[in-house]
Amino acid sequence: MPDTHGSTAMSAAGGTATTTRLLEVEGLTSTYGPVRALDGVSLSAEAGRITAVLGANGAGKTTLLRTISGLVRPVAGRVVLDGEDITKAPVESMVAKGMAHVPEGRGVISELTVDENLRVGALFRGKVDRSEFDRVYDLFPRIAERRNNAAHTLSGGERQMLVIGRALLAKPRVLLLDEPSLGLAPRIVAQIFGLLRQLVDSEGLSVLLVEQNARSALSVADVGVVLNLGRVVVTDSARTLMADEDLRHAYLGF
Ligand SMILES: Nc1ncnc2c1ncn2[C@@H]1O[C@H](COP(=O)(O)OP(=O)(O)OP(=O)(O)O)[C@@H](O)[C@H]1O
Ligand SMILES: [Mg+2]
Repeated sequence: MPDTHGSTAMSAAGGTATTTRLLEVEGLTSTYGPVRALDGVSLSAEAGRITAVLGANGAGKTTLLRTISGLVRPVAGRVVLDGEDITKAPVESMVAKGMAHVPEGRGVISELTVDENLRVGALFRGKVDRSEFDRVYDLFPRIAERRNNAAHTLSGGERQMLVIGRALLAKPRVLLLDEPSLGLAPRIVAQIFGLLRQLVDSEGLSVLLVEQNARSALSVADVGVVLNLGRVVVTDSARTLMADEDLRHAYLGF
C-alpha cells in the first residue's frame, strides 16, 4: 500500500498535488488501565486535505482524537503539529496552537442562543471581528436563520453545524471531528460534508474526520486510514479504499 506520509497525496479529483504534513502522529499508544485503545498508530494529515479515520466500534477512533488534542496522554509515541512536538503540551494550549476538537455528541450550551454559543468558541481570542461570525453564518445559512434561538431548539443537523461553526471561530489549522454524521439523515450528512469540503478547499484547513459511516466519509475525504483494535490496517487514497471491496466488507461495513 502507498505510504501517505510522503510529501504528496492523492487529491479527491484523483491527481497528485504537493501538500504539507501539518499534523503527524507517530507510534501513538494510549491505554485505559489494561485496555490498549491505541497501539502504535502512525498517520499524517495535510493542509487542504480531509483525512478520514474509519473503523468499527471500539477501534480507537475517539481515543485517537482525544490523544491528539491532549485529553488522553499516550504511553508512547508523538504528536507533531507543524514541526512542533505537542505530545506533552497542556490541553488548554492546544486551541491557541491551531487545534480544534469537536467531540462526539454535539455539546452546546442549551440555554444560550446560537449566537452566544458561537461567541463561546471565540472567547479565548479576545476581540473577534464581526466578519468572522458572518463567515460562519454564510457557510451555514440554517444556523444564521436561528441565530437568536436557544440552542436546545436546534435539530441534530443544525447542532452539528453550530459546533463546527463554533470550532471554526477558534481559527484552527487542524480540525478534529468525531462522528459528525451520527444519527443524522443522509441528506443532512451530505450537506454538512459538502460544506466541509468547500471549507477545506477554500481555506487550506486540515480535517481529521473520524467516522463509522465510512461510505459517506470516503466520498468526501482525500485519504482514508482504517483502524482496527487500535492499529492502522491500511492508509490509502479515499478513492482506492472505496474501490477495495474486500477491505470494505472486512472493516468498513458496506
Ligand atoms: N474511558 C475509558 N475507560 C476504559 N476504556 C475505554 C475508555 N474509553 C474507551 N475505552 C476502550 O478503548 C477502546 C477504544 O475506544 P474508542 O472510544 O476510542 O473507540 P471508537 O473507535 O471511538 O468507538 P465508537 O465507534 O464506538 O465511538 C475500546 O475498547 C473502549 O472500550
Ligand atoms: Mg468513538
